[in-house]
Amino acid sequence: MIEKRPIIALDFPSFDEVKTFLAQFPEDEKLYVKIGMELYYACGSEIVKYVKDLGHSVFLDLKLHDIPNTVKSAMKVLAKLGVDMTNVHAAGGVEMMKAAREGFGQEGKLIAVTQLTSTSEEQMHSDQNIQTSLAESVIHYAQKTLEAGLDGVVCSAHEVEAIKSATSADFICLTPGIRPSGSQTGDQKRVMTPAQARAIGSNYIVVGRPITQANDPVAAYKAIYAEWNQG
Ligand code: C5P
Repeated sequence: MIEKRPIIALDFPSFDEVKTFLAQFPEDEKLYVKIGMELYYACGSEIVKYVKDLGHSVFLDLKLHDIPNTVKSAMKVLAKLGVDMTNVHAAGGVEMMKAAREGFGQEGKLIAVTQLTSTSEEQMHSDQNIQTSLAESVIHYAQKTLEAGLDGVVCSAHEVEAIKSATSADFICLTPGIRPSGSQTGDQKRVMTPAQARAIGSNYIVVGRPITQANDPVAAYKAIYAEWNQG
């Protein structure tokens, strides 16, 4: 499946800024948004309830990583909030990911982070003592994620084709690091346009600042929506 709506990363520090941002969109425009650690830790579950009550879909990006029992219990809480998608670190292991699935249930999408895109191959060698290539580690974690019964992974758009061929065509690849043609890349180093991400098989794209920091966020969203769905 391909989600038509680009997921908007609500990387705001406060409830008020989220309200102001969302109020710019027409009431009947149902969005898909990403709530990450900053916003969730600042506002708690109220922010999820607020956004869900407006009729939007929520990807809660908290990247859980703990012992299986703790992750399972936490996932039960997140499922009750009605989040549409959430995630864990694949480094927590197959047992932890299975426990996450049990806790979260089958209703929403559950995906895993393989290697963070901020991790370089040298850092992976020295900090994690994983002596393969970064690409091999990403594939390994993606295969473990599939084995654990999760729906897919968060990955760089550049990794999508290799991940799909090592797992399955319907294994979800959710890709941040998306920039519309001709825009600033910010601190994202390896970016792709929405059209490129579509062409290489990404299922969901996450876009933050190109929409949230735009002079006209609604127009920016529409342009990215159109580019992602064009073809
Ligand atoms: O503003 P920008 O479009 O760069 O935001 C991308 C969002 O996706 C941010 O919330 C960022 O934390 C997240 N993300 C990312 N790269 C990853 C994983 C998550 O940029 N590999």
